[in-house]
Amino acid sequence: MAAGAGRLIAFEGGEGSGKSTQAKALAETLGAELTREPGGTPLGERLRRLLLDEPSAIDPRAELMMMLAARAQHLAEVIEPALAAGRHVVVDRFAGSTLAYQGYGRGLPLAEVKSACLLASGGRQADLNVLLDLPVSAGSLRRGLKERDRIEAAGPEFHDRVRQGFLAEAEADPVHWCVLDGSLPADEVAAAVRRVVAARLGLSLARGD
Ligand SMILES: Nc1ncnc2c1ncn2[C@@H]1O[C@H](COP(=O)(O)OP(=O)(O)OP(=O)(O)O)[C@@H](O)[C@H]1O
Ligand SMILES: [Mg+2]
Repeated sequence: MAAGAGRLIAFEGGEGSGKSTQAKALAETLGAELTREPGGTPLGERLRRLLLDEPSAIDPRAELMMMLAARAQHLAEVIEPALAAGRHVVVDRFAGSTLAYQGYGRGLPLAEVKSACLLASGGRQADLNVLLDLPVSAGSLRRGLKERDRIEAAGPEFHDRVRQGFLAEAEADPVHWCVLDGSLPADEVAAAVRRVVAARLGLSLARGD
């Protein structure tokens, strides 16, 4: 990869694991573009609402395709232009979540989900996936009584398959994944994120730890 090229860093993990907190902190440290999935563009945010608010069941393949439609638009409109301009991009969920939720969680064939992700992203993959691992019950407790959307409301067995799926993907591709203990205090997680980003991507960070 060319020196000075923008890097794509994805935060992954289950509900309440600290992704949004850590994505924001890292984006500030790096001066990176901060964005999220599903969403990140006007079309993507509309798809997000459809995906999360739909009162009736959505077929798993329909769910996958809607997620991927949002991703394709996100890459075209936000992520690729930022990377091409040499900016780093921090994304709150990316392809790892598709594999974990629609693959491991919903039970769609993993190889097919992976191919579909590559089709949607034009081959773009995150340079680093930061998995914030946390037991499902702990994430649920953190989120408290906040109303659950359609995917959050799926049962604990579903969310445990998602968690195990993330861990399996991270274990299978240690070059592109790192697993951090999401149960640590937020400032300790943030310090661990900065260390891993500096070490893996060779980025010099403003904070000296
Ligand atoms: N390391 C931490 N320790 C304790 N509480 C945390 C920690 N990180 C975040 N929180 C709190 O837990 C809640 C969930 O955090 P956050 O929104 O960052 O998680 P998330 O992974 O983005 O959740 P969601 O899946 O709902 O988007 C928030 O109230 C946040 O302030
Ligand atoms: Mg969040």
